[in-house]
Amino acid sequence: MQPKLCLALDTGLQKVRDLVRALKGYPLVYKIGYRLFLPFGPSVVDEIKEISGNGEIFLDLKLHDIPNTVRNGVKEASNLGVNYLTLHTLGGIEMVKAASEVKGDTKLLGVTLLTSHGSDYLEFIGTNLGKEEFVLRLAKAALEGGCDGLVCSAHEVEFLKRELGKDFIAVVPGIRLKKNINDDQKRVATPEEALDRGADMLVVGRPILNAEKPIKVVEEILKIMGY
Ligand code: C5P
Repeated sequence: MQPKLCLALDTGLQKVRDLVRALKGYPLVYKIGYRLFLPFGPSVVDEIKEISGNGEIFLDLKLHDIPNTVRNGVKEASNLGVNYLTLHTLGGIEMVKAASEVKGDTKLLGVTLLTSHGSDYLEFIGTNLGKEEFVLRLAKAALEGGCDGLVCSAHEVEFLKRELGKDFIAVVPGIRLKKNINDDQKRVATPEEALDRGADMLVVGRPILNAEKPIKVVEEILKIMGY
């Protein structure tokens, strides 16, 4: 599939409305997370769909609970008609299986290790596994359980596609146009690097949201992606 660009709408509603309206017709996926979904709920999903001219919706709730509760959550999200939904694969294979039973047309994306986490986190949770082994274990559980894709850092994509085959959607956040801007992301890559390594979807938030000319940044990234 041609790689997709996903804009993380991690900002206030008015700014989101203005931006999505200005981007109408651009081939984008719009990621709705806590910042919008908690205060505004399903109506914001409908609104973004409408003002983007039927853009795809990625609901990033990173579900993690007992299997039955996650099953109920996934069913509701699928009823909203969202195209992508995240869950934490740390929830275990039974949880992932319960989720995939009711996903309908919604693509499930398994989160392995957040890009803000480094080896200090692995030490914190008390695993002796190295980062790669840990991510691979979670990634295998995700795909076995029925996830359609994995959220992973650009540094893991190549390795995961080699180990697991290419038949999953590799969703890569932590994208920065210039290598020296890191903010709280510890494992960043440029769009070119992420694509070279096999990313199928680039998730970009602050580099677009905080830009003086966000549309130009979107156009720049889309051009790099071959649009
Ligand atoms: O602003 P920035 O480009 O860092 O945004 C990245 C987006 O990707 C955020 O919405 C963040 O929640 C999400 N994300 C991430 N790391 C993951 C999974 C999702 O940064 N492993």
